[in-house]
Amino acid sequence: MGMLITDIAELVTNDPTHPDSLDALGRATGADAMHAGLGVIRDAAVVVGSDAEGEPTTIQWVGRAADAPQADWAVSVEGSAVIPGFVDSHSHLWFAGDRSAEFAARMAGQAYDGGGIATTIEATRAARPADVAELVRRRLAEMRAQGTTTVEVKTGYGLDVATEAEAARRLREVTDEVTFLGAHVVPPEYRDGEAGSREGYLDLVCGEMLREVTPHVRWVDVFCEPNSPYSFTGEESRRVLEAGRDAGMGLRLHGNQLGEGPGAQLAVEFGAAAVDHCTYLSDADVEALAGSWADGADGTVAGLLPGVEFSTKHPYIDARRLIDAGAKVALASDCNPGTCYSSSMPFMIAMAVREMGMTPAEALQAATVGGALSLRREDVGAVRVGMRADLARIDGPSWLHIPYRMGVPVVRALEV
Ligand code: NIG
Ligand code: FE
Repeated sequence: MGMLITDIAELVTNDPTHPDSLDALGRATGADAMHAGLGVIRDAAVVVGSDAEGEPTTIQWVGRAADAPQADWAVSVEGSAVIPGFVDSHSHLWFAGDRSAEFAARMAGQAYDGGGIATTIEATRAARPADVAELVRRRLAEMRAQGTTTVEVKTGYGLDVATEAEAARRLREVTDEVTFLGAHVVPPEYRDGEAGSREGYLDLVCGEMLREVTPHVRWVDVFCEPNSPYSFTGEESRRVLEAGRDAGMGLRLHGNQLGEGPGAQLAVEFGAAAVDHCTYLSDADVEALAGSWADGADGTVAGLLPGVEFSTKHPYIDARRLIDAGAKVALASDCNPGTCYSSSMPFMIAMAVREMGMTPAEALQAATVGGALSLRREDVGAVRVGMRADLARIDGPSWLHIPYRMGVPVVRALEV
């Protein structure tokens, strides 16, 4: 049998049915109530199996260290806490250039309207794809060093056929979850009318560009935001979603970021896996998101991106309103050069706990199993037999150190 990982002081499984978990033992109460729902096992161990090349792949056994089976070899985590690796369901890592001055301007009071995206488009088009691929590789390593083991990455800073196709092809080599975001904004040359109109750009996105990226992507996304002149209206978004759906892609949206709008309800209508941002939701939007899960349906996850609120000075979302209504939420980084140049899921969790009304356990779940739900993945986000052996180690005895030690790099992917 594979590798035994042992001496885990506190293992978060996200499986409250595990017989050794505090939940199943009826002990997630009193002083331990903050662990409720997380399937925490104290003094735990995990056995990880290997594939033909000896690479650790799936979880073979989970339980109390004292009951662990014989394994080929063992590693001790010396009393650390272990969690499922973070599932970051929203990022834009394919970009070149720098927009730190734009961040400074916003901190001085300038509003975000999406206009800065053109700066990144210019820099990304001008860069050699191999150089951008190297930047992406470093950003993924930065994420892994902070405990993230699954990452969704979007195209969307090329916005011409060649750059989008190249981004999609190369991203597919480094992550399972690639999203086509040709409908990020209307690129400058189509705004001025030099190469055509908005409609002309949408023809391109839904036609040649979509055909070129299709072999490499799992998802299509659209920045549905009538509150910015650069992004797309509800009707325009509908076109993109229909084209993506017809090409066999799963659907995701950026919606309700800068003000109320049609994004959330459009996502539910189309059966999209996620609508991300959700900064401005009406009561009807919340109701629609919650209702999308009725009768065991695959609903639409509300992706919450608090790094964007931090970097654009929009108000933090009241996640309680969503959770209490029965909606399902994910926390993600949205790592991108404009609205949040942070890849840190621990930082997102800290903000969710401090500013968004989430309990630490809800925030941890939103960053793990919530991300998995947003990506419709059943093999990541929890520690159960048969799932991928994606674990993260906390430099401390409890998972609570993630928000408790905000800003301190206490989480990293467990290299098994
Ligand atoms: O998710 N909202 C649209 N797109 C990105 C920001 C893009 C940028 O400013 O470069 C986002 O926030
Ligand atoms: Fe985004």
